[in-house]
Amino acid sequence: MASGQLSREEALACSGCRHACHVMLYADTASKLFGRTPIRHIVLMQMRFDGLLGFPGGLVNPEEESLEAGLSRELLEELGLEVPITEEDYVETCHAPPISSNSRSHLILHFYVKKMEEEQIREVEKAAASTAVDHGLEVMGMVRVPLFRTNHNGGLSFFLTHSFIGNARSQLITSLLRLNLVSPQTLAKALRKSLR
Ligand code: APR
Ligand code: MG
Ligand code: MG
Repeated sequence: MASGQLSREEALACSGCRHACHVMLYADTASKLFGRTPIRHIVLMQMRFDGLLGFPGGLVNPEEESLEAGLSRELLEELGLEVPITEEDYVETCHAPPISSNSRSHLILHFYVKKMEEEQIREVEKAAASTAVDHGLEVMGMVRVPLFRTNHNGGLSFFLTHSFIGNARSQLITSLLRLNLVSPQTLAKALRKSLR
């Protein structure tokens, strides 16, 4: 287990800790940028009220609801439609940075990944911009992550230079690699360029 990580059971045993659940929704696509660059995958993030990029989801109270039920509730508010999340979509749990010595307010982050059909992703985007109660409030809009690299370091390199909430940037990078959505070479180049 990587540093900062803990098991779901350890996390739930922490009385007084706060919990948040977020999910990366993604789909395969055959569409091409400019009719020639294959997009291959759609990965959804959101521009939050605080100007930071993050994944949809939010605070959950495990004393009142399961992690998955709480995450589904947050998704209904932020995306405007039901996206049922199950334990099969669960990936990992970690401490929110920085780890506080005050365990009563300490935040624990649970991360999920859910694969959808392209059409379902389009429905999510449509609902998030219309029926979602949080639209324009907690959530300024959904964004697709550019997974390709264009000339002059455009695409993924520039995307990674934005500011992200909590550990959302590393959750994104780890998921892109783990799910093989971007090759390790493309990602390594994007990361090098994003540091310049
Ligand atoms: N994406 C989004 N937030 C993350 C992520 C991530 N990948 N990883 C960690 N977080 C942390 C942030 O520190 C965030 O403040 O989880 C916290 C709670 O997540 P939110 O999505 O912001 O919670 P939500 O329930 O949707 O919003 C409720 O939380 O951020 C505060 O005051 C804010 O009114 C808002 C309240
Ligand atoms: Mg919310
Ligand atoms: Mg939220």
